[in-house]
Amino acid sequence: MAPHKTLVNRRVLVGITGGIAAYKVPDLVRRLKDEGADVRVVMTPGAQEFITPLTLQAVSGHPVGTTLLDEEAEAGMGHIELAKWADLILVAPATADFMARLVGGLANDLLTTVCLASDAKLAIAPAMNQQMWANSATQDNLQQLKQRGVSIFGPGVGSQACGDIGAGRMLEVLELVELAANSFESGELAGKTVVITAGPTREPIDPVRYISNHSSGKMGYAIAQSALDAGAKVILITGPTQLQPPDRAHCVNIETAEQLLDAALQYSAQADVFIATAAVADYRVAHQHSHKMKKTDNNLTLELVQNPDVLATVSASETRPMFVVGFAAETNDVLNYARAKLDKKGLDAIVANDVSRPGIGFNSDDNEAYWIDDTSQVHLGRRSKHALARHLVSLIAEKTNNNK
Ligand code: PMT
Repeated sequence: MAPHKTLVNRRVLVGITGGIAAYKVPDLVRRLKDEGADVRVVMTPGAQEFITPLTLQAVSGHPVGTTLLDEEAEAGMGHIELAKWADLILVAPATADFMARLVGGLANDLLTTVCLASDAKLAIAPAMNQQMWANSATQDNLQQLKQRGVSIFGPGVGSQACGDIGAGRMLEVLELVELAANSFESGELAGKTVVITAGPTREPIDPVRYISNHSSGKMGYAIAQSALDAGAKVILITGPTQLQPPDRAHCVNIETAEQLLDAALQYSAQADVFIATAAVADYRVAHQHSHKMKKTDNNLTLELVQNPDVLATVSASETRPMFVVGFAAETNDVLNYARAKLDKKGLDAIVANDVSRPGIGFNSDDNEAYWIDDTSQVHLGRRSKHALARHLVSLIAEKTNNNK
């Protein structure tokens, strides 16, 4: 069965607990990687009785996490980093014991600790003897996990390693890969068209030099991926970046703020939502040189003229999308400056981030932000840009569905 959906740019943490089906996990890791996922593995002590960490290290291409209190591992990607890194935690096989510990909120090994410390999607692929699966203790635990939003992949029905026949087999590897890919889809923005601007603009000075900024595009691309997962049609208008655009996004490449404005006006006219993540240069040089400027013995003064404000122009246009969201990149007095931009640019919401803080904002994998609209202010604590993007898309879906 081929997965409906690619796992390109997905970070999947595979957790292995102590069941005989652990022998299938190297193949699972390989197949997830074939679909484009970056995979890391954590094993419980029980899992290591069935298969060695070395095997999983070889197929995943990364060190395997086995113990919570390992100085060397904590110095690399420790348990909190792993928890933040993952977009999806997939525990396969998940034993009855692991399910019980998850329900109890225990943190007595690396895997349960990572599960507790993560806001990633969590899915388990139960695998156990059919009687253990049918036991009311396991079934009660299952209900609690479902209520908490944990996805349950399987189990399958059939003959078991112990000789019994019944429910409790781990699903086949390709079924798990398909479910993992599908788990990113929510349908919250189904039927909506979303235009997202991302990355920097480049304002040429001469054929070899330009004015730009440190935007990597990571925030905007993560939002594009989340909007696609939510079922939207996505147009990603992007400045130059090193990133691979998400599959299925219609990608429009621009360099300058004026090109961004043209594309934004064109595509937003048919859009329901416009999200301006791009770091647009506020100024461009008044007179672009057609030849490379020669160095002289004197200082050089460039005359700069203002660029159009793309976001404000889209927001004021006759074909304004139903919901317009800006970003505010601030270094001080973040909330006040962001509110001023919300009002001045006529936005429905603004996402404010403090770009002076190390580890968040420009060109980082994490971000921390405030969502501000007319009626609410929500602090979105530090997390991966992917996790933040999912939260933002949910907020946008909630607001736009309420506005219908
Ligand atoms: O790309 P990354 O490395 O992942 O970094 C993400 C980010 C820090 C760039 C992103 O989170 C962010 O803050 N984007 C907004 C950057 C910015 O230009 O902020 P601003 O406060 O200067 O502008 C406010 C808003 O107006 C932004 O939505 C911007 O896109 C828009 N704008 C600004 C100037 C202009 N001439 N036209 C605009 O449309």
